[in-house]
Parts: sequence; structure tokens; C-alpha cells
Amino acid sequence: MQVAETKFQSNSNSLEELRALVSEGWEAVNRTIFKRLGSDIALVNQVAHHIIRGGGKRLRPLTVLLAARACGYHGTNHAVAAVIVEFIHTATLLHDDVVDDSRLRRGQKTANAVFGNQASVLVGDFLYSRAFQMMVELGEPKILEIMANATNTIAEGEVLQLMNCKNPDTTASDYMEVIYRKTAKLFEAGARIGAILSKQNEDTEEALVTFGRHLGLAFQLVDDALDYGSSTEELGKNIGDDLAEGKPTLPLIYAMDHGTRAEQHMIREAIEAGDTQNLTSIKLAIESSGGFDYTAERAQDEAHAAAAALDPLPESKYKKALKSLTHFAITRRY
Ligand code: IPE
Ligand code: IPE
Ligand code: MG
Ligand code: MG
Repeated sequence: MQVAETKFQSNSNSLEELRALVSEGWEAVNRTIFKRLGSDIALVNQVAHHIIRGGGKRLRPLTVLLAARACGYHGTNHAVAAVIVEFIHTATLLHDDVVDDSRLRRGQKTANAVFGNQASVLVGDFLYSRAFQMMVELGEPKILEIMANATNTIAEGEVLQLMNCKNPDTTASDYMEVIYRKTAKLFEAGARIGAILSKQNEDTEEALVTFGRHLGLAFQLVDDALDYGSSTEELGKNIGDDLAEGKPTLPLIYAMDHGTRAEQHMIREAIEAGDTQNLTSIKLAIESSGGFDYTAERAQDEAHAAAAALDPLPESKYKKALKSLTHFAITRRY
């Protein structure tokens, strides 16, 4: 616990330092989130404020702000774009917790646990459409196009994942396809918006796309390891939620390929049934088969690829901060 607390501290400190680099934009993001969350329908306000009050790391808006500055952007629309990305993210979380039947997020009860599935799905729709209203106001057709495509791809990713649930024959490559669509695509879009706002050439835009994609992949690989390797207190989410849904994530896929026959059998059965009764033994099997190490190494590869993608950008404190984000993605405990 001592070690865990120290890690949590150092990680949150490092995020604080990155936020401080874009403090004006960061404050605008936080103000705009609350300003644009509102509705005259009471239940919309209650559900939306519930999930937003939980906070969250706000990594995606931070990525947008830093990417814009790293590309030399001097305006203020980056903060609006950052909120748009965070609203899309928040909408996906409201829906995701219904689909995954999750009860805890950001250290508090999920919206579906407090207000029910119906309210969560509907307020998720409210946040999606609020984000699109804001994109129209922003008047940047290319951003609208990128976000429409990203949102569509995220939905496909979640559906693809649903199709793989309870299927122990899902391959590592099937899994990578899911996490690219459901998670990396939004990081990709967020980073790309930074280049677009500052009217960068295609090469720079492509560099930011590549950065965002690899950052998002690293982020989700770590998320899937934390679902077995962390604790509820640190993560703010319940451990074993993925297994309860029979989600074949990389730590399990690796343990099935490299564990003993008995371990393979136990994991296959747990995935097929979405059964967490052997969670403790399954965690041990992931550990002893090298599943945590392997997932961490794949996440490191992605983080390195993300950092390398930034090479064409001019040196700046913002570019350095984007590289630090890749480090945060793989060392985080929450
Ligand atoms: C959770 O994302 C969903 C995933 C893609 C794993 P975050 O871990 O960024 O969630 P918050 O916003 O910080 O709560
Ligand atoms: C979240 O995936 C991806 C999206 C919300 C699109 P997960 O289901 O792994 O995220 P958590 O663990 O619930 O945050
Ligand atoms: Mg989930
Ligand atoms: Mg997860």
C-alpha cells in the first residue's frame, strides 16, 4: 500500500506539472465543462453533474491543449475543442458502464448504479449531441468531420468488443482492433485537432495522428492490465469488471497461450461464463505466465512509438510534455 500511494502521488504530480504548462487553457476547459453541461431538464443535470463531479484525469483534453501548443497554436479555441473531446469521452463512459454493468467509476458509484440504465444511456446521448452542437459553433468543418468519424469508430469498437465477449478464441490481433477503435481513435482525433487548429501541413497532422493512436493503445493496454493488477482504492473502478463480462483482454489471451493446461482451462471457462469466482487464481495465472509483463511491454512499445512520432515537430516544452504523457500512460496506477 505504501508503494502504491507513492506511485499515485508521483503520477498525479507529473500530471499537475503538465497541466500547469497550459494553465490558461486548462482553466478554460474546466470552466467550459460546467458552463456547457447544463440543461433545463433536471435529470439531465443530475446525471451529467454526477459523472463530471467524479473528475477523472482529463487526459484527452490535456492532449488537445498540448498538441495545439506544440504545433504553435496561439488562439483559445483549443479549449473548446478539448471540452468537445472530453464530452464525447464522458458520453462513452456513461454508455460503457451500462454495457459493462459497472458499479464504480472515478471512486464513486457509476451513474447507472445511482440513476439506472435508462437515465445513463439518455444522458450519454445528451452529452454526445451537446458535443456536436459545440462543434457546429466552432465552425471548423474539418474538426466536425474528424469527430463524427471518431465517434462512429468508437461505437463500432464497443460493438466489436461485444461480439468478442465470452469468446476465448479471440486473438491478440482481434483485441488490438477493438482497443484501437474504442479508445485510441479518440486520442488520435484529439491530437490531430491540435494540428488542424494551427493549420499545419499534412505531414505534421499525420505525425500527431500517429502519436495519438499509439498513446491511446498504450493507455488501453495498461487499463486492461490494471483491471486485474490494481486495487479498487487506487483505480476508482472495481477490479475484475472485464472478467465479469467475459472480455478477452490481452493479459488473459497471453495467459491462455502460455499458462499451464489447468490455467488455460480455468481462464477459458471463466471467459465463456463471464464468471469471476476464480478471479484470484486467474490473477496469479496471469502473473506466473508473464501476462502482466507481456502487456506492459506491449504498452511500452506503443508509448515509444508515440514519442517517436513527435520527431518532426520543433523542440518545445509542449512537445516534451506530450512525451511525458506517453510515460504517464504506462506508469499510471489509476
Ligand atoms: C477510461 O478512461 C476509459 C478507457 C478508455 C480505459 P480514463 O481512464 O481516461 O477515464 P477518466 O476520464 O480518467 O475517468
Ligand atoms: C472503455 O473501455 C472504452 C470506452 C469507454 C469507449 P473499458 O470498458 O475497458 O473502460 P473502463 O475500464 O470501463 O473504464
Ligand atoms: Mg468498461
Ligand atoms: Mg477497463
